[in-house]
Amino acid sequence: TPIRILICGGGNGAHTISALASSRPNVEVNVLTLFADEALRWKTALGDDHIVIKAHYSDGTQGEIRGKPRLITNDPAEAMKDVDVVFFVVPAFAHKQYFEAIQNYINNDTIIVGMPGQAGFEFQALSSMKRPGHSAILSLDSMPWACRIVEFGRNVEILGFKDILGPSVIAGTGNYKLPPLQYVQRILGEKPNLQPVDNYLAVSLMADACVHPPMMYGRWKDWDGTPLSEKPLFYQGVDEIQEDLLSKVSDEIVATAKAIQQQRPELDMSTVIHLFDWYKKYYPDQISDKSSLRSCMVTNKAYNGLVYPMKSVDGGFVPDFGYRYTSEDIPFGLVVMKGIAECAGVKTPTMDIIIEWAQKKLGKEYIVGSTLSGRDVGSSRAPQAFGFKTLHDLCSVL
Ligand code: NAI
Repeated sequence: TPIRILICGGGNGAHTISALASSRPNVEVNVLTLFADEALRWKTALGDDHIVIKAHYSDGTQGEIRGKPRLITNDPAEAMKDVDVVFFVVPAFAHKQYFEAIQNYINNDTIIVGMPGQAGFEFQALSSMKRPGHSAILSLDSMPWACRIVEFGRNVEILGFKDILGPSVIAGTGNYKLPPLQYVQRILGEKPNLQPVDNYLAVSLMADACVHPPMMYGRWKDWDGTPLSEKPLFYQGVDEIQEDLLSKVSDEIVATAKAIQQQRPELDMSTVIHLFDWYKKYYPDQISDKSSLRSCMVTNKAYNGLVYPMKSVDGGFVPDFGYRYTSEDIPFGLVVMKGIAECAGVKTPTMDIIIEWAQKKLGKEYIVGSTLSGRDVGSSRAPQAFGFKTLHDLCSVL
């Protein structure tokens, strides 16, 4: 019998997984997009045709993958009918909207996948389900591929497959058609290979979001408002001040993991490592000078030419503080890490300074002094926003 999955979203990742999953034998794919008229636009653009993926494989060869979802809709009830697995493939700020739309149709046997989850996905997911006795929650630590839409609704390109991902799995209590991890691997195919990490806290603490805010703060904290004549290099322009900030934030994250490990020896937090070690581990061939954190970033080929998010104004460019490096990576990133640190009883003076600065740019208040007690905590994905206040609370869902 066929298995049926739901893809939530309509962007690059949603196009890619919709086509890829539909190309597999005995897999039926529904798509739900709630964004404006995207469902109708997608359905109309595709007509009776298949979505075509142009895939670039790591051995240099290229291939074509074709797949057609059975349904593209903006109706949650129709979308969720007989679905075993739901993939959330939208930026983190949109997760809540999808959970609210489908929560009445999620049961204990549904598998929920954040692709990627981003920090705090589990808290959002759990709060949308009836606890205790909830379904499985998988959080992928990144998108399985670098991918982009070439022609909306019809053509998409996989620029590269990740070799390995380290998802977290909260097994839940459901009666699944296939074990959750095996199910997702079957949909993705051979690559990336899913090598689960021990627990969701370890994934949340290692999210990419710990890089962008310290970079933004370090670069712009003393900026006087004068437009720049060109967009400065992002990673390749790291200076000593930013390096120091990144390193200190990383120290606070590692200290949080150590504190959790000490209080809960049964958890394995060893995948939470300092950013310097992370670069050496994950970009072994792309970095030409591995002598320091700064040199790892400046000489990383994967980062060639990437610039700061900037807006054009009269006289040049000004930083875009509404870009996801702050608007997402604070409420769905650093604030979540801060919240976990608070549950573990770890002080985070450097994170606090960065959150304090960024929340002003965003017109929000998450932190007051050194505690997460601002009026906007509830709209962040900090554990505290969902009633998790202690390490005991965080572990109660494992
Ligand atoms: P995308 O930028 O293509 O997503 C756009 C989609 O998000 C839209 O089509 C719509 O469905 C939804 N959306 C946009 N604005 C919305 C709004 N105001 N309200 C409701 N829904 C809205 O995103 P993509 O590329 O699919 O990536 C998803 C996540 O994965 C992002 O967080 C991205 O940073 C991350 N990621 C993406 C990679 C890639 O290669 N595409 C690689 C690594 C991470």
